[in-house]
Amino acid sequence: MLREFAELKLWPEPDVPPPYDVLLQEVRDVDGVVCLLTDRIDAGLIGASRKLRVISNVAVGYDNIDVAAATARSIMVCNTPGVLTETTADLAWALIMAAGRRISEADRYLRAGRWKSWSPQLLLGQDIRGATLGIIGFGRIGQAVGRRAKGFGMKLVYTDTERQVEVERETGAEFVALPELLRRSDFVSIHTPLTAETRHLIGARELTMMKPTAVLINSARGPIVDEAALAEALREKRIFAAGLDVYESEPLPQDSPLLGLENVVLLPHIGSGSVATRTRMARMAVENMIAGLKGERPPYLVNEEVLSTC
Ligand code: GLV
Repeated sequence: MLREFAELKLWPEPDVPPPYDVLLQEVRDVDGVVCLLTDRIDAGLIGASRKLRVISNVAVGYDNIDVAAATARSIMVCNTPGVLTETTADLAWALIMAAGRRISEADRYLRAGRWKSWSPQLLLGQDIRGATLGIIGFGRIGQAVGRRAKGFGMKLVYTDTERQVEVERETGAEFVALPELLRRSDFVSIHTPLTAETRHLIGARELTMMKPTAVLINSARGPIVDEAALAEALREKRIFAAGLDVYESEPLPQDSPLLGLENVVLLPHIGSGSVATRTRMARMAVENMIAGLKGERPPYLVNEEVLSTC
């Protein structure tokens, strides 16, 4: 689709993102950049561009882009919301179940040849049915996770900057402050964007508010959780388990203390990773780019305010 419309320069490595200095060089003479969440599109890079008009992220989260710097230069920033909501909610649920019922640990146990007999005490986990699910960030994905909880007869509590009265009515979710959510929940699932306000929202203090039987799930952005504090809490079994798809530094460094712990399920940031959803995200990012380059309003524009200036 893009080739019909523009001359393309493609980074050839599927598994390694382009180094920052390559981006810095390449951005100088392009009109648009289709980028991934692994590409840091900061003020320096935006400043180095001479004719950049559109930045199209193949992700719903756009904390990798300095939106203020782009807006100041009348550059449109686009993302891919909506199409990945259900797939990402499914993944959060996979983590809830895997961490709660020790699925990865049990799989490792069996493969290591350690399974000798059925045993009443073997690999006991936490019940999901009837438990309380606390959702931090009740936007599109948080709500989709919450809707699935109904099938498990769960009690739903949530916290957000705004109340969602309509969804409360539909799901029975109860709006509470973060400390109360942490104290009451058996499973806590994070679904906020990463901003200055949500960085280390869950730190040592918050982890001590959780039940010793509780499970923490993060499929949003790594830096929302203080990872060192989480590793410590897991090591000391102050919480039961965690399920993580995202990390403070990605890929997760090989010396991370998390890798030595049994009570954490670790996934390599695959939240939106279904064939259909990644295909839709790619298409959407391209549609955003083409509209922006044509001078039309991209379907998913993050910084609406540029329309009055560009
Ligand atoms: C993935 O993490 C996304 O933000 O789309």
